[in-house]
Amino acid sequence: MTVPLVVGNWKMNGKQAESAVLARAIVSQLETKPSNVEIAIAPPFTALPVVGMELRNSPVKLAAQNCHWEPSGAFTGEVSAPMLSEIGCQYVILGHSERRHIFHERDEMIARKISSVTAQSMRAILCVGETLDQRHGDKTVEIVTAQLDNALKGLAKGVIADLEIAYEPVWAIGTGQHATPEQVSQVHECIREYLRTGFGAVSGNAVRLLYGGSVKPENAESLAKIDQVNGFLVGGASLQAEPFLAIADAFNEN
Ligand code: PGA
Repeated sequence: MTVPLVVGNWKMNGKQAESAVLARAIVSQLETKPSNVEIAIAPPFTALPVVGMELRNSPVKLAAQNCHWEPSGAFTGEVSAPMLSEIGCQYVILGHSERRHIFHERDEMIARKISSVTAQSMRAILCVGETLDQRHGDKTVEIVTAQLDNALKGLAKGVIADLEIAYEPVWAIGTGQHATPEQVSQVHECIREYLRTGFGAVSGNAVRLLYGGSVKPENAESLAKIDQVNGFLVGGASLQAEPFLAIADAFNEN
């Protein structure tokens, strides 16, 4: 059975001390109410070491929000996959829409990042999703398929085993407006079919598909019930332990 994965993306929030407090709260609340859900948290780079310390001896995994595709070199301001692996990251979020839209990351860069992350034995969380204009133009499936094609086409087939895919409609991120269960279901079914066709039924079925975009305790249960939803990528609601764990709990109830 697929173990659901719920990832907290803290984005650019949290200095070291407050990040440690939040991580500690998550760990201690989980101790009182163990979960069958795999949980990971992605603090900003500067808080990764302190959060990593808090997560030692806990089931909660450490994740990063981005990385460069080269292991080292003249790339001012960047952080590489070996650096993240060295401090204990097990997941790296790649191709988040804020990276794509604000920092102009292209699919080819994201493809190279996936290779660099998996080469370090970390797992990549590849984010895809359409803008509101694209949705209104009936282009959702086309856009998501192109993002998957471009990010995955040059990679070794086996890389799919080290990957999660997060469907995050851009218009739902940080807006309070989550996609409806029907919309989520439709896109997740398409992604699943894409993976089965391209990588075979066994490998394609094994990839966890996360939904992200204004997931809250109030909507988590209906989203978690969707057949092809195997987890969540949570932004705003992951900045407090209680709502974040309530969201993860939606999978325990299913
Ligand atoms: P949100 O962010 O939950 O605040 O909408 C989700 C994300 O950006 O991954």
